[in-house]
Amino acid sequence: MHYTPDKNDHGLAYSPFNALVSPRPIGWISTLTPTGPVNLAPYSFYNAVSGHPPFVMFASSTPKDSRRNAEQAGEFVVNLAGFAMRDAMGRSSEAVAEEVSEPDLLGIDMAPSIAVKTPRVALAQAALECRYDKTVISNKQMFVDTEPFNSGADGMTIDAEGFLWVAFVNSGEIARFDPLGRTALVVDMPCRMPTNVGFGGPTLDALYVTSLKQTPNITADGPGAGWLYSITGLGVKGLPETRFNG
Ligand SMILES: Cc1cc2nc3c(=O)[nH]c(=O)nc-3n(C[C@H](O)[C@H](O)[C@H](O)COP(=O)(O)O)c2cc1C
Repeated sequence: MHYTPDKNDHGLAYSPFNALVSPRPIGWISTLTPTGPVNLAPYSFYNAVSGHPPFVMFASSTPKDSRRNAEQAGEFVVNLAGFAMRDAMGRSSEAVAEEVSEPDLLGIDMAPSIAVKTPRVALAQAALECRYDKTVISNKQMFVDTEPFNSGADGMTIDAEGFLWVAFVNSGEIARFDPLGRTALVVDMPCRMPTNVGFGGPTLDALYVTSLKQTPNITADGPGAGWLYSITGLGVKGLPETRFNG
């Protein structure tokens, strides 16, 4: 049998990928949330990948709390779980609010670690106290083929529906793409070189577009070059700004 993970054309109820390389160890990753509570989550895509230096990894299928906490706190603990802990392990995979500590919620005893501040699972057969090294983000894929636009993408913004607006600086257009990268709208701008887009106005329904007039290398002549445009009547709103709080 052959199948392509992108298409999942295997005809089975579940993707066979997770079962192909097995057995996999199951670990509980403990981390400290930014506000203090201990976060505990099961991971089967974790492993020791080097002995010299000792190096372990875990893989979050999406940007989950364990990853964020490890990045922010600079440390995490891998707790090797035994068969006796399987029920608590399953229950701890449920998503809960950040301020809820899974060990408190599920009655899992934690113990202080020695090399890091993050506690370990008291009954785990072994605990690897880890300092965070790096996050590797993969699966970079083409989102939009810009070839038909005769221009690379320049400034962009996301609207309230999760669509992406892009200024195509060399073709005088701005375009809106749905979350799958399909073109939803192309707006022909009166200027030759739009450079950036952003929503604003009292109800966030105006799209502001900057444009280029002159740089040391480029002169965008023609009417409207360098203007700051406001486009209304698009029927779309922007996202409110999140204020930085410290
Ligand atoms: C046995 C088991 C193994 C799991 N392995 C993984 C894994 O390797 N990667 C992953 O992203 N999620 C995995 N999950 C799901 C996570 O535990 C779940 O999404 C959890 O809510 C993540 O918590 P966090 O947001 O605190 O990191 C697994 C769940 C179980 C029950």
